[in-house]
Amino acid sequence: MSKVPIKLVFATHNANKYREVRAQLPSEIDLLYLADLTHEAPVEETAQSLRGNALLKMDAVVQTTGMNCFADDTGLEVMALNGAPGVYSARYAGPKANAEENMAKLLNSMVDLEDRRAQFRTVIALSWNGVTHYFEGICSGHILRQPRGMAGFGYDPIFQPLGHDRTFAQMTLAEKSVLSHRGLAMNQLMEWLRDHLK
Ligand code: IMP
Repeated sequence: MSKVPIKLVFATHNANKYREVRAQLPSEIDLLYLADLTHEAPVEETAQSLRGNALLKMDAVVQTTGMNCFADDTGLEVMALNGAPGVYSARYAGPKANAEENMAKLLNSMVDLEDRRAQFRTVIALSWNGVTHYFEGICSGHILRQPRGMAGFGYDPIFQPLGHDRTFAQMTLAEKSVLSHRGLAMNQLMEWLRDHLK
């Protein structure tokens, strides 16, 4: 990989996500996020798919800054609910819903369900020198009946990844990053960047 720091914008306002992703990047990449930019691009996530929303968020930054940029969009997909809340995960309990309200609505919708299988899916859209590339990461697991743990954000306290006996909210950031949907999608992005920076 090139030794010259490469500026790359992560089109997110979410400092949690920014920190998670930055922790996985090699030091050659100087990662910025929306709080670092002077002109912001407010984006409505109006697409019907994770890929469409990732593209909308990425494209808004590219149009205003001309910089290389990537955006992610994540959904929690519950098998027995036909993939809901999916692309609507952030506002499952309403347009201004917070994480507790979203979790409460989901637990309520699943109260009679024995099949607790779910997955987090992240799609990343990258604009690199004007060309768009997509990456995807999936983390399979189960929705618990009660929240457990204080770390993380969103649905972390009720999501237990397969093969683990703790929820994402009971893991350190480093533990979560290794197996998470975003971590896996980010690994693909990193692999792609390494190949293209040789
Ligand atoms: P976004 O597209 O990454 O903003 O994610 C949409 C919604 O999915 C967020 O508002 C959270 O509710 C949820 N979400 C995304 N990533 C995670 C995660 O790693 N853990 C728990 N919930 C998440």
